[in-house]
Amino acid sequence: MEKKNFYITTPIYYPSGNWHIGTCYTTVVCDAIARFKRMSGYDVFFLTGTDEHGQKIEEKAKEQGKTPIEFIDPIVDGLKAIWAKLGISYDRFIRTTDADHIKCVQKIFKTLYEKGDIYKSEYEGWYCTPCESFWTEGQLKDGKCPDCGREVHLEKEESYFFRLSKYADRLRKLFNDNPEFLQPKSRVNEMINNFIDAGLQDLCVSRTSIKWGIPVDFDPNHVVYVWVDALPNYISALGYGAEDSSLFDKFWPCDLHMTGKEIVRFHTLIWPAILMALDLPVPKRVYGHGWLLIGGDKLSKSKGDKISTELTDPNEIIERYGSDALRYFLLREIPFGNDGIYTNEILLHRINSDLANDLGNLVSRTTAMINQYFGGILPSPIEAGEFDDDLINIAKNAYKNASLAIDEINVPKALGEIFKLIGRANKYIDETTPWILAKDESKKARLGTVLYNLAESIRISATLLLPFIPNAPVKILKCFGIDAEKLLNFDSVETFGVLKAGISVEKCAPIFPRIDVKKELKEIDDMMIKRHKEKEKELKKMANNTVIEEKAPEITIDDFAKVELKVAKVLTCEEVKGSKKLLKLTLSLGDEERTVASGIKEYYKCEDLVGKKVVLVSNLKKAKLCGVESQGMILCAEKDGKVVIVSPSQDMPEGSIVR
Ligand code: MSP
Repeated sequence: MEKKNFYITTPIYYPSGNWHIGTCYTTVVCDAIARFKRMSGYDVFFLTGTDEHGQKIEEKAKEQGKTPIEFIDPIVDGLKAIWAKLGISYDRFIRTTDADHIKCVQKIFKTLYEKGDIYKSEYEGWYCTPCESFWTEGQLKDGKCPDCGREVHLEKEESYFFRLSKYADRLRKLFNDNPEFLQPKSRVNEMINNFIDAGLQDLCVSRTSIKWGIPVDFDPNHVVYVWVDALPNYISALGYGAEDSSLFDKFWPCDLHMTGKEIVRFHTLIWPAILMALDLPVPKRVYGHGWLLIGGDKLSKSKGDKISTELTDPNEIIERYGSDALRYFLLREIPFGNDGIYTNEILLHRINSDLANDLGNLVSRTTAMINQYFGGILPSPIEAGEFDDDLINIAKNAYKNASLAIDEINVPKALGEIFKLIGRANKYIDETTPWILAKDESKKARLGTVLYNLAESIRISATLLLPFIPNAPVKILKCFGIDAEKLLNFDSVETFGVLKAGISVEKCAPIFPRIDVKKELKEIDDMMIKRHKEKEKELKKMANNTVIEEKAPEITIDDFAKVELKVAKVLTCEEVKGSKKLLKLTLSLGDEERTVASGIKEYYKCEDLVGKKVVLVSNLKKAKLCGVESQGMILCAEKDGKVVIVSPSQDMPEGSIVR
């Protein structure tokens, strides 16, 4: 029988340099679906990659004194390394800087120009001269450049435009005739009402003010602008328009474009219109998923340095808990189509409750009992009993139900179907109480059946879990003598009774050790707070250096006269509790005493200070530092991290004026 094809894509990622767990969401979901479809007998092509052109990249590279490619390459390598850790089984990783993509985009641009769907006109926008950037009215901040805050002015730039407006009726028809085209359905109205009905504007598709892009080959002053460069990756990756277009012929139209909700508009309006203009079929389905939120904010590139103790670096989460745990969290916790929330606590509870408890305990209890009661040899199912049918039914239907959920693109629901079997099997242990059966020799046949049924339930659930968490099921199945690397399809999951009685069953070690959540959270909090403090210190140090290096503004003698400086003698000194930096000094000014909190603990011991003459800024406004009221400030000299107290070069009476 000929295999059915399935083409699935993620959006291509901007190499901004800050990969976080939100970035992983779309790709992990696509990977689970791609793996599930492969095991269901489909010939799958799974595409992901990076979107590397544009002004932002050009600017960031410049800031670092690099060429755009020198800037991008290590970031892309970082993403590929994360995909490797997460076991992302893509068939191609496309980069929009790949030669075949560039050629394809140029060809598409020319074809559309020749057909009259792309035309030359003028783009009018707000231009910031120092930034060399165009902004739309909506992008301005208080009428000024959102990047540098300077004045902008209206300017025109010669540009090519795509006739998006021409396709409004066909797009409306696309939505009306194909209720499956965009999902979740809730997003359809927004596209029709807010965009199509509001009037589609032709789209600016080239720029002369940006250099980092694909040149329009017949007019090289222009580079292709953003979406007409990015969206065609879905067909350039398959060799559209190239000498060998066999992949394109086989896989296009795409079965599923998975995208975040903020870019649904580009995938369901602009992209189909470009395809219509090229006389190509439109994608079968676009799914707009929700965002992973942290503390109510989308995890985004620009908020990467937000103060928070949540772990957001996928590398770090994988290192601590393994890639299956991160994949499981992303696939299970976020209600599909809606936003979901990440906190360390939610992640840890998910690991404990589903993976360590439900799955882990089922496997360790079952394999331990087979070893304890049957010497590690799988018994035969010879004596059926109460509860068996229910368990067996759920096991036999798990694949069908999970598969239906995958076709609805509801990944958490698919996992829920598999965990229904795991939950049922755990309940079956409580119902059949094998440890009681084991006490009675006459119940040995029943005990054997119970354990056999449990082993089969584990085999089916572990096999079904392979697309979602590719590592743990391999270890589980190995305990039952199954080499999961060779398990390339789901052929065995709808039959109950595949495991042969008499095979050896290993006692499975806990696959997901239980985490002490309270202890772990404390450890993460401490670590993250320490990290933030170090970062702050670093920033402060940098800021201080800048201040020192910068010339102070000129002041008049009158300005200086406002500062009262007096010689003072240190009478007592003690450390300020809870502060790493402060010492509490009592100073004598001759006719009065002052208390001063001074940040010199790193440089002086108390015994070296008592009796010393110092210079005090004596008319400084009082301030409370770590609970100490500081009535002035002593002067220090500082350079390259060295700090020394300023003292009169000869002994002078306390209270002497310094000028
Ligand atoms: N380059 C464009 C896409 C072009 S497709 C032809 C882009 N790139 S992106 O890097 O900003 O986003 C890539 C994908 O990651 C999007 O689907 C986006 O929604 C997703 N996510 C980025 N942060 C996310 C979360 N915090 N949560 C879930 N997904 C998020 O857009």
